[in-house]
Amino acid sequence: MNASTPTQQVADLLRRSKRIVVLTGAGINKESAATSFRDPDDGTWSKYDPQQLATPLAFIENPKLVWDWYEHRRDLIRQTKPNSAHIALAKFEKWAVEKSGASYTLITQNVDGFHELAGSHNPIHLHGKLLENRCFYNCQGEPTIIDISTLDWDKRSGPPRCPHCGRLVRPNVVWFGEQLPANDFKIARDMSINCDLMIVAGTSGAVEPAATLIRAVRQARAKVIEINPNYSLLTTLADIKLIGKVSEVIREMLDMLENE
Ligand code: OAD
Repeated sequence: MNASTPTQQVADLLRRSKRIVVLTGAGINKESAATSFRDPDDGTWSKYDPQQLATPLAFIENPKLVWDWYEHRRDLIRQTKPNSAHIALAKFEKWAVEKSGASYTLITQNVDGFHELAGSHNPIHLHGKLLENRCFYNCQGEPTIIDISTLDWDKRSGPPRCPHCGRLVRPNVVWFGEQLPANDFKIARDMSINCDLMIVAGTSGAVEPAATLIRAVRQARAKVIEINPNYSLLTTLADIKLIGKVSEVIREMLDMLENE
């Protein structure tokens, strides 16, 4: 069939792809009430700039303030469900693995856990997981995950202490100025170098390593597809750009793939 529209071209490429990687960012959450990292907060936290709070220095200087901000974000997450974009991507994964027999890897910059809740399997979290906590110093190795439900501390005082080393417990997320979790980034880069096709959905490319992973795909002469209603810093790196919302674009593509 002579592929004509960009979506038909992508569907055609997907039918021939055996190693598919999807990279997602905060744009996925724009399709629901889930607040994404940069969304203005309407509550008491609105006077704070997230980029000022999400740093190791901010936590060291005022552990209670930063901890309470993350507890607030976790409460918001717990009150929100995966949206149509998360669900569409989980359905796409199902098609890729069960119908097309491809390997499928989801890499996300998001920390909210909604991909898993929607049914995606084992996403690679480049920026950590908001609902997890770890020892500030990873005293037992990277990462030293701490289950705070087993700890007893005065919650009005801010974060608990690590039961192993006594230092502060912090959210298991990557802060500005910090390195990505080395092992997760290595796996993400290996999957990017070895894929046939990467779909980049809902990321502006404003924060590394999105662009690094996409350049790795291009160096491997694999195809890069961008799904975004706007132009981004990654658009020039994409072989095909599908302009639109993730949920709508993926749904249209799945209709083509499942009704061929
Ligand atoms: P951004 O908020 O920088 O970019 C979101 C992108 O999603 C934009 O390009 C939007 O045009 C696009 N978008 C919006 N709605 C969309 C939709 N329905 N479908 C598809 N695309 C849509 O988010 P990221 O690129 O993910 O890092 O960057 C977020 C990172 O920056 C976070 O991980 C955080 C922040 O600094 C850390 O906290 C270390």
